[in-house]
Amino acid sequence: MHSLAVLLPLFSLALPLVQAVATCNATTSCPASAPCCSEFGFCGSTQPFCLGGCNPLASHTLDSCKPNPICKNAVHTFADNSRVLSNATLFDGNASAYDFIVESGNIMNSNGELAMLLTEQNGGTRISSTRYFHYGTVTARLKASRWAGIVTAFITMSNVKDEIDWEFPGNTTTEAQSNYFWQGLVTKPNHGDVATGLSDTFSNYHDYTIDWQPDTLKFLIDGKVVRTVKKSDTVADGVTQYPTTPARIQFSIWPAGTASSAAGTVQWSGGLIDYNDPDYVSAGHFYALVQSVNITCNDPTPPGADITAYVYGANSSTNTPSVALTNATTDLNGVPGMQGLAGNGIQLLLAMSLAAGLLGQLF
Ligand SMILES: *[C@@H]1O[C@H](CO)[C@@H](O)[C@H](O)[C@H]1NC(C)=O
Ligand SMILES: *[C@@H]1O[C@H](CO)[C@@H](O)[C@H](O)[C@H]1NC(C)=O
Ligand SMILES: *[C@@H]1O[C@H](CO)[C@@H](O)[C@H](O)[C@H]1NC(C)=O
Ligand SMILES: *[C@@H]1O[C@H](CO)[C@@H](O)[C@H](O)[C@H]1NC(C)=O
Ligand SMILES: *[C@@H]1O[C@H](CO)[C@@H](O)[C@H](O)[C@H]1NC(C)=O
Ligand SMILES: *[C@@H]1O[C@H](CO)[C@@H](O)[C@H](O)[C@H]1NC(C)=O
Ligand SMILES: *[C@@H]1O[C@H](CO)[C@@H](O)[C@H](O)[C@H]1NC(C)=O
Repeated sequence: MHSLAVLLPLFSLALPLVQAVATCNATTSCPASAPCCSEFGFCGSTQPFCLGGCNPLASHTLDSCKPNPICKNAVHTFADNSRVLSNATLFDGNASAYDFIVESGNIMNSNGELAMLLTEQNGGTRISSTRYFHYGTVTARLKASRWAGIVTAFITMSNVKDEIDWEFPGNTTTEAQSNYFWQGLVTKPNHGDVATGLSDTFSNYHDYTIDWQPDTLKFLIDGKVVRTVKKSDTVADGVTQYPTTPARIQFSIWPAGTASSAAGTVQWSGGLIDYNDPDYVSAGHFYALVQSVNITCNDPTPPGADITAYVYGANSSTNTPSVALTNATTDLNGVPGMQGLAGNGIQLLLAMSLAAGLLGQLF
């Protein structure tokens, strides 16, 4: 990424200038000079382009993105936020240094709980794990938000947009929605499902589990299976449309109920956000809380001690990229984000993505 090209849009947020940065997608990959295709479809050579979210299929070559840090069994708690890097622009790819990075928005620590904040100004908050997992079980103990127009999410997301979701839309506090996507494909009918009858998801902690195995995907609440998807049931048009690629774990609180959202999205999220809500007026933010995250890896090939990361290879079957283990470094080696130039590189990309109408894909 030539930094100056990125700098331009920040100063004048005009839509045409977004085109000053090379864009990338499945049909147009990045040039050698800016080889990494970011999550949002922009080419560059630093963080965030080459780290989390870097799409190998739209990058210059399959190995342009930095390798994806390998899964480690862990139970993350939040006595403080010291393992959460609050400014993702500073991340250099060293997954031993931090467990999570804040990619947009703001966090707080409230009595040993990680609070994700949503304000009228910050556009919501998203944090991502620094490590990936390639099959396994992840359980988050969380309290969702409870306000119309606001969605809380706990998802896994791969760099080619294989995605598994728990979502809590709006002011419904007795439901949790599950969903999954294969390479970002939105199917009709979609793969969503709703678990009902939960005790208040805002006031009570529940354990939400994604049990993602090579042949089955299960969703659990408080240890009970509420949904099972078999890989063999996901075949469509001769292609198995099942998540298979290493994914980061992400948490977010995001403003779906805004005037710029599609009508269906506003309705799904419970209506427009009311910033005159007494909760907002008194606290200055809306929020969702994460108490713990328990990750148990189940790599198809158990990694040896020297293994550091996952890399993509040629397709292993129709439209399914192969995934291999590597001992290569995941670090950018001193080339993190665009600091000293345009402030927070990720905020900049966020602004550019908003201009390009990509908000729906951001969270
Ligand atoms: C892919 O990107 C190229 C270059 O920006 C653009 O011309 C093309 O329309 C894009 N294709 C899709 C399917 O978005
Ligand atoms: C990565 O972070 C760990 C923990 O902070 C540190 O011990 C290690 O030296 C770092 N590795 C590199 C290559 O900077
Ligand atoms: C959610 O908020 C909307 C908009 O304020 C309101 O119409 C609806 O009744 C609320 N639903 C619940 C379950 O509280
Ligand atoms: C973490 O999850 C694993 C597997 O699901 C389970 O065996 C273990 O007891 C959990 N640990 C904690 C501290 O919850
Ligand atoms: C490999 O799979 C990807 C992801 O579906 C697809 O975009 C690409 O065209 C496939 N490549 C080949 C050579 O079939
Ligand atoms: C990775 O493994 C290869 C082959 O075993 C070895 O030659 C190389 O030194 C290793 N690299 C690192 C960074 O450990
Ligand atoms: C993140 O760090 C960069 C580089 O130091 C800095 O320019 C930017 O203002 C920081 N962003 C936030 C939100 O603190």
